[in-house]
Amino acid sequence: MLQGKKILLGISGSIAAYKSISLVRLLIKQGASVKVILSPAARDFVSTLTLSTLSKQEVLSDLFDEASWANHVMLGRSSDLFIIAPLSCNTLAKMAHGLCDNLLLATYLSATCPVWVAPAMDEDMWQHPTTKTNLNLLRSFGNQVIPVNSGELASGLSGEGRMAEPEEILALVFEHFTKSADFTGKKALVTAGPTYEPIDPVRFIGNHSSGKMGVAIALELANRGAFVDLIAGPGVQLPRHPGISIQSVSTAKQMFDACNSRFQEVDLAIMSAAVADYTPETVAEEKIKKTAGGMDLKLTKTKDILKELGQMKSSRQVLVGFALETNNERANALQKLESKNADLIVLNSLQDQGAGFGLDTNKITVFDRSGQEEKFPVKSKSEVAADIIDLIHKKFYE
Ligand code: CTP
Repeated sequence: MLQGKKILLGISGSIAAYKSISLVRLLIKQGASVKVILSPAARDFVSTLTLSTLSKQEVLSDLFDEASWANHVMLGRSSDLFIIAPLSCNTLAKMAHGLCDNLLLATYLSATCPVWVAPAMDEDMWQHPTTKTNLNLLRSFGNQVIPVNSGELASGLSGEGRMAEPEEILALVFEHFTKSADFTGKKALVTAGPTYEPIDPVRFIGNHSSGKMGVAIALELANRGAFVDLIAGPGVQLPRHPGISIQSVSTAKQMFDACNSRFQEVDLAIMSAAVADYTPETVAEEKIKKTAGGMDLKLTKTKDILKELGQMKSSRQVLVGFALETNNERANALQKLESKNADLIVLNSLQDQGAGFGLDTNKITVFDRSGQEEKFPVKSKSEVAADIIDLIHKKFYE
């Protein structure tokens, strides 16, 4: 089942490291090639001999060994997947902040393949705000966090923080490699984040969009084999993935130009950016000084990118838009589907708990042109991205 797949397994210092021994066995049994890298602390928990015997390969752990040092860039480039299991609090913090004092971290920083982490820690550490912040940073870099389990912990206490079982990780690996082929050869265009419309050299009109939803969509598509052009507005945490090429833009006009020049080549376009509808008619060259009275700002309409692409769309292309609404959600979404000639509209309502700007979760309803609608519960943005891409696959590519 995993024949020919090259998996890198990073093990950091946690009592859960014993589970990684089983994970190596399970992966090897399925035909994968497994290369193990230990953090220095992991060597206190598992033996190099056990892991090299099971993986049938040399186990790496020392950054200052000449061969390993030269190798670390190639390791993360030539592998299909890098799993760090268990992920200790210490390694998590170092990964989140770019520290590079061992081979596992150097390999992580240079990895271009998908990276997954399976945290393992006591419940109090798991609940600490630093842990949550660091995991969110990893998610924002495009890494996938494998959920922890609840149960008995090394401290003797019971609660959340147990590393996922090797069999659960294996099931995710299977799913990843079977799904990962279904967008191979497809080209996609994705927009993400806000646009900033300058008023003067200091000020702009913008919005609260974080771009997390668009980035999650780009990553999902790339993980499933697509080549993705991601057009990202300002402030978006950019992902790293060999299948994603990124163009950063600032204004609605720049975003339109970037989309317009690429649209004809793509099979699929997903417009998740929160594009400004209006832009200042003129941009002051110097900072505008305040005066005694009020101030009028004259705005002109920007181009509606989704609508423009809808007019250019050919029958082989799939065009997906978003609708962010605060009221009359269904009617507004359907009106956008029609007027912009999109194939699908993904609705998120600010009325819904768990949906909105900057959150890591979203709640969506998707409408198509035949009048069908599909509602989904609140999920993480990466799960929502998977739902959207699954639906696109089912409706247009099966
Ligand atoms: N959109 C776009 N270009 C614009 C405005 C919106 O491409 N200038 C796209 C968004 O990326 C999204 C969809 O149109 O896919 C709907 O965006 P939304 O802000 O919900 O709607 P608007 O069309 O701007 O309408 P309104 O603000 O009146 O709700």
